[in-house]
Amino acid sequence: MHRRGPAGPINPRHRGMAAPRVRARIGAAGRVLPGQFCAALDWLLPLGPWRPISTFFKASDLRVELTSEPKPKPEVGQLQFGKHFTDHMLTVEWDRERGWGQPHIKPFQHLRLHPASSALHYAVELFEGMKAFRGQDQRIRLFRPLMNMERMSRSAARASLPPFDQLQLLECIRRLVAIDQAWVPHSDSASLYIRPTYIGTEPSLGVSRPGHALLFVILSPVGAYFASGPMGAVGLLAEPRYVRAWLGGVGDCKMGGNYAPTILVQDEAVRAGCQQVLWLYGDDHQITEVGTMNIFLFWTDLQGELELVTPPLNGIILPGVTRQSLLDLARKWGEFKVSERSITMADLLRGLREKRVREVFGSGTACVVSPVSHVLYQGKNYPIPTMENGPDLTKRFLKELTDIQYGRVPSDWVLPV
Ligand SMILES: Cc1ncc(COP(=O)(O)O)c(C=O)c1O
Repeated sequence: MHRRGPAGPINPRHRGMAAPRVRARIGAAGRVLPGQFCAALDWLLPLGPWRPISTFFKASDLRVELTSEPKPKPEVGQLQFGKHFTDHMLTVEWDRERGWGQPHIKPFQHLRLHPASSALHYAVELFEGMKAFRGQDQRIRLFRPLMNMERMSRSAARASLPPFDQLQLLECIRRLVAIDQAWVPHSDSASLYIRPTYIGTEPSLGVSRPGHALLFVILSPVGAYFASGPMGAVGLLAEPRYVRAWLGGVGDCKMGGNYAPTILVQDEAVRAGCQQVLWLYGDDHQITEVGTMNIFLFWTDLQGELELVTPPLNGIILPGVTRQSLLDLARKWGEFKVSERSITMADLLRGLREKRVREVFGSGTACVVSPVSHVLYQGKNYPIPTMENGPDLTKRFLKELTDIQYGRVPSDWVLPV
């Protein structure tokens, strides 16, 4: 999608890359400099109090207030997903009368919210999930962060929350990570999870576009997502009674409201001896996503061609940054067919019967890739030979992506902090 901010359109060809315009402003300190892309706003300044209220917040206005009580950092081996938080957070408030306030990095603290806040009643809420990695060279890198900014902008538009400048938010996040850089784990199996969050804080029970909002970012050091480790295979419960998202809905947005109803189903999966839910859609039981991951099948198709296939971005799945990265890598290799098309449970079961399936795996920021060992569907367990096949492709993707993320190979997919 072509989105216009004060800096002009972000070239869709560079979605998720350190786009040339951003790269051009990375200074010696690896800093995204607020320069030319703010220029479009600067002509408004002489207008003083008469300037329009809808200006975007700017990283150059950041107010930084450091903690006087830094917390002890957990050992890498003790890290549990999302349980530990760093010393600082970023907040930016918006209201209809004054527009965006000053971005503020401050000691990590509780929020004070009006009990009628629209986020609490009508789930006017969205978030992102991205990571900072420390390489052996001690440099810290963000992975395709503009893709997260773009997805967050799309979620905000759908949630009736006001737009923001993606590059300015990214620079504020970069500054926050730089301030809390000691929290980025010294390990190539751990990273710093970044959780930008955006909520409606309208203090009224009317169901309407919020006149008050809060954007905040918190950071959490994380280790391996699954207890079974990075290459532990997971079993999936495919239960057509439950639907995660539907056409015309918001399954392609990262809104909190998409996740609460999945917890009960996830618990059912665990009771059935599985680790994740395989979300199906439609009467033909199309395969859509795995828990909080996109799904990939690597198999021989009906024409006898080796194919990597993942469901298309038709509105019911989240457009994953990892999904796009795997597709980009596979297309660059050019060694097998790469398809974004619908696959049904019947297709998968036929493939298994005919021994055409090599690997099935999920993809996501939290785990990178996660091999699948079996699917429990309509009371029957279907083993999937992912681990028996190496899993060669899953491992190759894991290595390629982590090499980029931890700076072992150079790539313009990373933005240095
Ligand atoms: C529902 C859902 N699908 C897919 C993904 C994977 O997206 P990404 O690769 O951007 O982490 C996520 C992760 O946040 C998710 O919540």
